[in-house]
Amino acid sequence: MPTQIYRSALLRFADDGSPLYDSDGLLAVAPDAHGQQRVLAAGSWQALQAQFVGLPGAQVVHLPGKLLAPGFVDMHIHYPQTDVIGAPADGLLPWLEHYTFPHEARFHDRAYADGVAEFFIDELLRNGVTTALTFATSHPASVDAILTAAQQRGMRMIAGKVLQDRHSPDGVRDDTEQGLIDTDTLIQRWHGVDRLGYAITPRFAPTSSEAQLRGAGALAAQYPDVWVHSHASENLDEIRWVRELYPQARSYLDVYHGFGLMRERAVYAHCIWLDAADRALLRETGTAAAISPTSNLFLSSGYFDYLQADAAGFRYGLASDVGGGMSFSPFRTMQAAYVVGREQHSKQGLSLKPGQLWWQHTAGAARALGLEGVIGNLQRGCEADFVVINPACTPLLARKTQQAASLDELLFAMIVLGDDRLIEQTIVSQAK
Ligand code: GUN
Ligand code: ZN
Repeated sequence: MPTQIYRSALLRFADDGSPLYDSDGLLAVAPDAHGQQRVLAAGSWQALQAQFVGLPGAQVVHLPGKLLAPGFVDMHIHYPQTDVIGAPADGLLPWLEHYTFPHEARFHDRAYADGVAEFFIDELLRNGVTTALTFATSHPASVDAILTAAQQRGMRMIAGKVLQDRHSPDGVRDDTEQGLIDTDTLIQRWHGVDRLGYAITPRFAPTSSEAQLRGAGALAAQYPDVWVHSHASENLDEIRWVRELYPQARSYLDVYHGFGLMRERAVYAHCIWLDAADRALLRETGTAAAISPTSNLFLSSGYFDYLQADAAGFRYGLASDVGGGMSFSPFRTMQAAYVVGREQHSKQGLSLKPGQLWWQHTAGAARALGLEGVIGNLQRGCEADFVVINPACTPLLARKTQQAASLDELLFAMIVLGDDRLIEQTIVSQAK
C-alpha cells in the first residue's frame, strides 16, 4: 500500500490530553514493516503538504467539510448483551437475574454467538468505535466468536471468557477449575495474535468463589500483559452483598486487591461508591476505572465522582457498558458523562470540557488500557484507526457546527446533538 494522504479538518490530542485541531489538516498514513497501517504525519496542510504531496505513489483524498478524528475506544462493553439493551428492571441485581443471565446462556451455541458477534462489530464500526474491551460469556466459544469476527475485520479488540462459578444459574455458571483452564487455553490461543488481546474476566466478586478469584490472580501474575476486566462498586445492594460474602476485605476493591487482581492493565467498570483508600489503591496499583454513565443512569446505580478521581490521580476512561448502557454511540456516552459531571459537581463549579470528554473516549481510554501511543490518537506512530465525521449530518448540527466560534463550541455541539449519524466512515488500520 502506498502512502495515503487525507486532507480535511483534523482532531488529535497532545500528550497532556489537550485537543489539537487543524481546520485544514493533513493526515499521512503508510504501512510499517509488518504491513500495519500507521500514522506517518499529522498536522496542518500548510506545514506538511510540501513533504508528502508528490511522493511516488502517494494518493490524496480530499474531504472538504469533514473532520478526521481518532477512532473511539470503548473501555467496557458486553457483546453478548447487544440484545439486552433497554430491558427494564429494578436495578442491577434483578436486571442480571431476569434478563442478562437467561440471555447469556444462549452463547454456548457457537453459531448463535457468531451471529451476535458479527452484528456487534458492525454496530461498533457504524458508531465509530475501533477498539473495545468486551466481556464475552462464560462459554469459551463466545470468545472464539468475537475474536474471530474482529480478526476478520483487522480490528484491535480485547475480550475474555467470563468466570462465574457461584450465585449464577445453570447455563451460565462455570466450574471453578475448568473456568481457569479454559482461560489459560484462550490466552494462549488469542492473546497477541494479530491485533487481539485477552482479558481475564471474573464477572464480579459475588459470582466468583475465593478459589476462582485466587486462580484468576495467579493467571494475572503469570501473564502480566494480559488484561484483567471486571465490575466494582456499581450499586449499593451489590456492595452490601460483597460485604457479606467477603467480610474480611476492607472494601469491594480490596477483595480484588487481596487476590492480586489490581495492577496495570486491570480495568474495573463503574467504581462509583469508592472511598479515599480505594482511590489511592487504584492509583498505586495502576488500575483503571471504566466510567459508564448511560448504564449508571439506566440502572440508577449512582454518579461517578470526577473531582475525587482527579484529586487521587488514577486512570479512567469512558465506556458504553451495553447492554446496561443505553447506546453504542460514543456521543451519547460523552453527553451522559457531561450531564452526570454537572449533576455531581455543579455546586463546586465544575463542567467537563468537550475536549476532555472526547479524550476520555479516545486517547485517555487508550492510556487507561496501557495502549497509549498505539490507538486512540492520530500522532505519528499510532495505528491508523480513525473516523470521518460529517459535522453537517443533520440540519441542526449543520447550523450549530457552522456557527461554532471555537473548538470547544464545535466539539460540544457534536457531543450534545450527535449520534451514529455523525460517523460517515470508520477506517480500521488493517495489517496485511
Ligand atoms: N455486574 C455483574 N455483571 C454485570 C453486568 O453484566 N452488567 C453490569 N452493568 N454490571 C454487572
Ligand atoms: Zn458491565
